[in-house]
Amino acid sequence: MKKALVTYFSASGVTAKAAKALAGAAGADLYEIKPKVPYTQADLNWMDKRSRSSVEMNDKTSRPALKDTDARIADYDVIFLGFPIWWYVAPTIVNTFLESYDFSGKTIVLFATSGGSGLGRSAAGLRGSVAADARIVDGRMLNGRLDEKELRAWVDKLVS
Ligand SMILES: Cc1cc2nc3c(=O)[nH]c(=O)nc-3n(C[C@H](O)[C@H](O)[C@H](O)COP(=O)(O)O)c2cc1C
Repeated sequence: MKKALVTYFSASGVTAKAAKALAGAAGADLYEIKPKVPYTQADLNWMDKRSRSSVEMNDKTSRPALKDTDARIADYDVIFLGFPIWWYVAPTIVNTFLESYDFSGKTIVLFATSGGSGLGRSAAGLRGSVAADARIVDGRMLNGRLDEKELRAWVDKLVS
């Protein structure tokens, strides 16, 4: 059995809830990706083109700073990586996270929550932020009610 870590970024708590359900079902450790400067309600108003989240998302090269970089990535084989979909892809703070560690030889399984969009081109946007021999797997959306048994079966397929 491979060792799994569930990491996530969540601005308003929805992905955090999904990540906790996933870690619980998988018996995996949990690590929260935190921004150095927390997002405010105004920052997250994605209808406002000048909001922080919009500005960051419209510039794919933006790399919002992390609060800390103490995840023990080296200890794990499979890293589940969760985030809210922002403008159809992963928030750029997820790129900052990936660029802050060595994911060489690791399997990264994406999961996300959203208002309805899928993972889309999230993986493509993250590919350049990890070593060439890191594997990025399009996982699944974890919107809505989550069934523990079903989550466990999904995780087992990926970590066995
Ligand atoms: C800046 C921003 C952009 C968003 N873009 C999308 C989108 O493209 N498609 C979508 O379905 N939902 C979008 N949403 C909604 C979030 O993906 C959704 O509310 C998510 O579950 C929030 O997760 P969180 O509470 O973990 O931050 C966006 C939200 C924000 C704040």
